[in-house]
Amino acid sequence: MEVVIAPAGELARLAADAVEGLLRAKPERVLGLATGSSPLAVYDELARRHQEGLSFARVRAFMLDEYVGLAADHPERYRNVIEREFASRVDFAPGAVQGPDGLAQDLPAACAAYEASIAEAGGVDLQLLGIGTDGHIAFNEPGSSLASRTRIKTLTKQTREDNARFFGGSVEQVPRHCLTQGLATIMSARHLVLLASGRAKAEAVHQLVEGPVSAMWPATIMQLHPHATVLVDDAAASRLQLADYYRQTYADKPDWQGL
Ligand code: F6R
Repeated sequence: MEVVIAPAGELARLAADAVEGLLRAKPERVLGLATGSSPLAVYDELARRHQEGLSFARVRAFMLDEYVGLAADHPERYRNVIEREFASRVDFAPGAVQGPDGLAQDLPAACAAYEASIAEAGGVDLQLLGIGTDGHIAFNEPGSSLASRTRIKTLTKQTREDNARFFGGSVEQVPRHCLTQGLATIMSARHLVLLASGRAKAEAVHQLVEGPVSAMWPATIMQLHPHATVLVDDAAASRLQLADYYRQTYADKPDWQGL
């Protein structure tokens, strides 16, 4: 696992560099998209690079998760969020961005169909991730099976409180259930790039990088991934025991070596 501690703007550029490097080498790629605050600066940077010629026309993209039951036109439905924050700003082909269907009549069948779509696309080349203050990735809350696949989950009180800011500050407005890629689904991606900023994420980042692998801190499964990159600002890095070592490693990294 590579840990980079840097200012937020640099982290977004690094993540965008990783995406751009993939697309320049081969335009037919499969990206994994996260919602929430953490990847927004990356989407801004990718949208800017699109203006300069970076094309997503042959890219397919899969979202991590979706709330169950939010109306099709609800602004916080993740399908709408990703459209607003990213997809509408670049040149994805129609239908190229998919997410789990939180409005399906048969939710387990929708989850199985979603897994099949990812597999049919050849799997995800690069997965962008945020992390919850309780250590979730996607919506794999504490106690999630480390071998889980896309399924229905119940959001923790902590996550609903954290996300109330997107729902006018009202926890009651935050759905209780979601569909989420499982931890094994995420681990199948070929490169994981997680972004975290702010002190509220410091304990989760410490556990992710330095804690024992445990379902209690689901993101710790990333320690078992052969190509995982953790991009954090100073505040999110503030509980890392080996922060000086990570900083030195990044400072000494050869220019030619990407993420
Ligand atoms: C969103 C997702 C979540 C968020 C996490 C952090 O698709 O999968 O795991 O990444 O809750 O959210 P932010 O970035 O808003 O702090």
